[in-house]
Amino acid sequence: MVSYKELGLVNTREMFAKAIKGGYAIPAFNFNNMEQLQAIIKAAAETKSPVILQVSKGARNYANQTLLRYMAQGAVEYAKELGWEKPQIVLHLDHGDSFELCKSCVDFGFSSVMIDASSLPYEENIALTKKVVDYAHQYDVTVEAELGVLAGVEDEVSSAVSHYTKPEEVVDFATRTGCDSLAISIGTSHGAYKFTPEQCTRDPKTGRLVPPPLAFDVLDAVMEQLPGFPIVLHGSSSVPQEYVDMINQYGGKLPDAVGIPEEQLRKAAKSAVCKINIDSDSRLAFTAAVRKVFAEKPAEFDPRKYCGPARDLMTELYKHKIINVLGSDGKAE
Ligand code: G3H
Ligand code: 13P
Ligand code: ZN
Repeated sequence: MVSYKELGLVNTREMFAKAIKGGYAIPAFNFNNMEQLQAIIKAAAETKSPVILQVSKGARNYANQTLLRYMAQGAVEYAKELGWEKPQIVLHLDHGDSFELCKSCVDFGFSSVMIDASSLPYEENIALTKKVVDYAHQYDVTVEAELGVLAGVEDEVSSAVSHYTKPEEVVDFATRTGCDSLAISIGTSHGAYKFTPEQCTRDPKTGRLVPPPLAFDVLDAVMEQLPGFPIVLHGSSSVPQEYVDMINQYGGKLPDAVGIPEEQLRKAAKSAVCKINIDSDSRLAFTAAVRKVFAEKPAEFDPRKYCGPARDLMTELYKHKIINVLGSDGKAE
């Protein structure tokens, strides 16, 4: 058993309470490799922003759970080296799908876990979530749960349509499970294709898709039921069109990729939404930078020469999100 406290990590409890009071949200960035982790920590350290490092099932399969845990431990030391005296870093399991997996993360140094039983019937979601909460809380590890279904792909679970969270269920769910935060469905979705062209309108000037707005009425109703309770938004990449254009310009093919407009995320961050999940945007930045090097310097074969620019572009992206979208800069001085 390794406690996250020995590793210099923190759980989400105090972070979320402060974020709700202060009208900002904590960035939750997924990482799968060293360059992403370096970029996240550099951006957080330079802006003094609390940050959540997320490990998905895909990341565990790709990079190995043990290695990722040690990388997060190293990230705390790296943050200090960068001059961030008291780093506030959470190591979080993203979309945990079983009690055993959540338990292994709690036992292994994660400070926060998500149990995503949102695809199960309501009572089964409650039972599994409560089981994870009862275990995790013994070790002061915080637990995120999910109610409602996002469209798109969550690891191996995919859904063609979203089912918004039912505000009339949230009090019962939060009370009976004891979860610390709740991911809700209000129209966000995972990946770089969040909406079909049929769900969007098209800007006649640019030809770009304009997505439908998020269901802020559902968010408002949830907040009315659960005042001051931490709310989480998954699937919150904005799919920056400059990266999509760069990818397409340098030989990629991402037609009509579309995300959540940043103004809507900014608006959500000012409410009880205190954790915003971003993964796809980082993938887009990485791919755009690598494609550019490959296109412009076809003789290049040193991975540092293309992963380095990718890391720089991701750092820029993370800082932009922290400062201009989530408003979490300076909140972990
Ligand atoms: O929720 C989905 C995340 O973007 C993780 O995706 O399993 O492909 O790493 P992944
Ligand atoms: P995006 O695919 O929009 O980046 O969402 C990531 C996410 O929700 C991870 O849990
Ligand atoms: Zn997610």
